[in-house]
Formats: sequence, C-alpha cells, structure tokens
Amino acid sequence: MTDLDLEVPHSARMYDYYLDGKTNYPADREAAEQALSAFPTLRLYAQQNRAFLHRAVRFLAEQAGIDQFLDIGAGIPTQPNLHEVVQGVISTARVVYVDNDPSNPWMQRAARLRHCRTPSAAR
Ligand SMILES: C[S@@+](CC[C@H](N)C(=O)[O-])C[C@H]1O[C@@H](n2cnc3c(N)ncnc32)[C@H](O)[C@@H]1O
Repeated sequence: MTDLDLEVPHSARMYDYYLDGKTNYPADREAAEQALSAFPTLRLYAQQNRAFLHRAVRFLAEQAGIDQFLDIGAGIPTQPNLHEVVQGVISTARVVYVDNDPSNPWMQRAARLRHCRTPSAAR
C-alpha cells in the first residue's frame, strides 16, 4: 500500500466528489473542478457509470444467481454500495472490495481487520 497524502488529488476521491460523496479533500475537489471545466459532463458520466454498475450486479444476482463478487477498483463507499444491491437480492451474497487508494475507507477497514488477524476484508 502507498503512503496516504491528502495534498495530492486521487481519482477515487475525485469520483467521490462527482457522486456528491463526503470522502474528498480540497486537493481532490480542486482537481475535480478543473476536470469539470474541461469536461462538464464528467459528473453525469460518474452517476451513469454507478447506475450501470447497480443494474449489472442486480441482473447477475437475480438472473444468474451469482452470490460472490470481487469488486476491483471498488471506489469509496457510497449509497448504495455493491454489497447492499446484491444482498437486496440474495441476502447471503458476499462481496470483496479491492482498491489501491490507501485513503479508501474499505481499505482502511481491511488494514485494521488484517491487524486483528480477521480473515475477510469486507462483506
Ligand atoms: C472511477 S472509480 C470506480 C468506482 C466503482 N467501481 C464504480 O464503478 O462506481 C475507479 C476506482 O479504481 C481504483 N483503482 C484504479 N487503479 C487501480 C488498481 N490498479 N488497483 C486497484 N484499484 C484501482 C481507484 O482508486 C478508484 O477508486
């Protein structure tokens, strides 16, 4: 895992800003606003991407009975999270979140659990 530097914008936290999340910092917001000035539809793209993710995993759970998901590049927790969508279909479904952003709360939780020798990162 890399060092956490909140002075340097990170794409995960910029994405969180586009989704009106709360896990973003001044450097992220400044970079996100610069990107928005060049690409004003970025916020809409982020929201539509998130909506597609929800439709896709709901379909996989409902239509194919998939009950285990590996979410690589999970992003910062937002509402609803992937596990909330699939567990709305299959209550016992499991999700493992992976992200390379050390400020990501999923990864901070996983690091704490690893420190406690708990076997699973997130579900
Ligand atoms: C645009 S967000 C997507 C979040 C979510 N999957 C979604 O569709 O709403 C991309 C995420 O991928 C993560 N990411 C980028 N490169 C990665 C890598 N090599 N390994 C793990 N995560 C990565 C970023 O930190 C960011 O949280």
